[in-house]
Amino acid sequence: MPKHPLFDLIKNEPLFHSLVEKYGTPLYVYSKDRLIHNIQTLDQALGDHFESHHICYTIKANSNPHLIQALKSTIPALGADCASPGEIAISGKCGIVGNECIYTGNYESPNDLSYALETGAHINLDDISSFHRLKRIGLPKDISFRLNPGFGRGAFSQVVTGGENSKFGVPHYDIVNAYRLAKESGITSFGIQCMTGSGVLDPNYYPNLISKILKTVKKLKDELNIHMDYISLGGGYGIPYTDEDSPLNFDNVFNNVAQNFNVFFESRHEAKPALWIEPGKSVVGDTGILLTRVTGKKDSYKSYIGVDAGMETLMRPALYGAYHRIYKVGDPDALPSTKVDITGRICENTDRLAKDRLFPEVNEGDLLAVMDAGAYGFTMSNQFCTRPKVAEIFLAGEKPTLIRRRETIKDILRSCDV
Ligand SMILES: Cc1ncc(COP(=O)(O)O)c(C=O)c1O
Repeated sequence: MPKHPLFDLIKNEPLFHSLVEKYGTPLYVYSKDRLIHNIQTLDQALGDHFESHHICYTIKANSNPHLIQALKSTIPALGADCASPGEIAISGKCGIVGNECIYTGNYESPNDLSYALETGAHINLDDISSFHRLKRIGLPKDISFRLNPGFGRGAFSQVVTGGENSKFGVPHYDIVNAYRLAKESGITSFGIQCMTGSGVLDPNYYPNLISKILKTVKKLKDELNIHMDYISLGGGYGIPYTDEDSPLNFDNVFNNVAQNFNVFFESRHEAKPALWIEPGKSVVGDTGILLTRVTGKKDSYKSYIGVDAGMETLMRPALYGAYHRIYKVGDPDALPSTKVDITGRICENTDRLAKDRLFPEVNEGDLLAVMDAGAYGFTMSNQFCTRPKVAEIFLAGEKPTLIRRRETIKDILRSCDV
């Protein structure tokens, strides 16, 4: 069974002890080596199978500028997938500017739209009504719409973003109307985007998805004579969260996507658009470890291990029931002995990092490593119960750099002017 790619790192007890001694707990630690490996693997797979490609790293997965700068210096053509003015601003700080970015909003405010327009980001609209709102502000040269193809897939129902129950995108039966309106309003360049869910580990999903998108591309060409400059397949590429999950083989996935893509355009004698992707989790997910210290143990109707990180530090388990592997630092091979819930200090009964987990014996003060916390970890963290946000460390080999200092209670109060 495949072990976690950072499994051996967790054995390095002196390293983690020195980190928490200096920076405290809870602490997010990201492996730079793994981050670089992940982005290079994606770029290589796309480069091998597509004439032209563009990676827009999804900022909401992890918006620490130091991580984004490391990605940008590895892949100089890297773009960004942004969901808010703040994310466009962070991308800009990291050297990802103008039309290297794609801005995908939903129910966008006029302020959001004018910010995106001013920065020159590609604007990817969620709805025909978004186009009307944008037109009142000004129109860019090119535009894309987010297609909701009528189906979606995700690791949890909450992260399925396509289909009849999804708030996102233009339904397939309205997509021609959306592009017709844009063309009649003077837009001359077009792309199309589709993002139907997150955490998909089925390799066959992506070639099937591109085929569905291409059906719409055909309709738009045949009915409106619109040719796409780019097609964004969105993100959603899953990572293993358990030893039983198999990782996606990106060379295989994009080889199969490219086959459908290339046959389609070659048979129609049309120029091939650039293939864009918007990966988040597959770039940063497995690079991140959340270090937390055991604060208390309790035997009640169930057995609990209390730790100093909770749903305010890592929301995914409480939000989706997501499973994260948790290891004892220094001894990730330790054999489980008791069934426990691992919980934080928040006054909500959903505050769990693990439920009914067979876990090794631990003592107060022990350090635990919550794995795969790099994506939607810190970015979803909050200050509930007035808990300051935690510090973040970038680990190059064994060399740590503090990339975000721990917040203080004073920081939280700063904006209240008291
Ligand atoms: C529009 C868009 N693109 C890409 C992504 C990235 O998804 P993932 O992190 O699953 O790759 C998201 C995530 O929510 C998204 O909303």
